[in-house]
Amino acid sequence: MYVCLCHGVSDKKIKQLALEEGICDVRGIKQCTALGSQCGKCIKQTKEILNETVPIL
Ligand code: FES
Repeated sequence: MYVCLCHGVSDKKIKQLALEEGICDVRGIKQCTALGSQCGKCIKQTKEILNETVPIL
């Protein structure tokens, strides 16, 4: 499923970056994919996916 339609970034890609590259915040995901740099509608969902993928202990 696409999270960021403007830049074609999927939830799978976000999870992959978090788990394999250790990129656990929206800023890091933005730097890698340009997610959120256009309309910004995807930011909230990206935060939720990161929280589910990398829960804060
Ligand atoms: Fe991500 Fe528009 S949906 S910037």
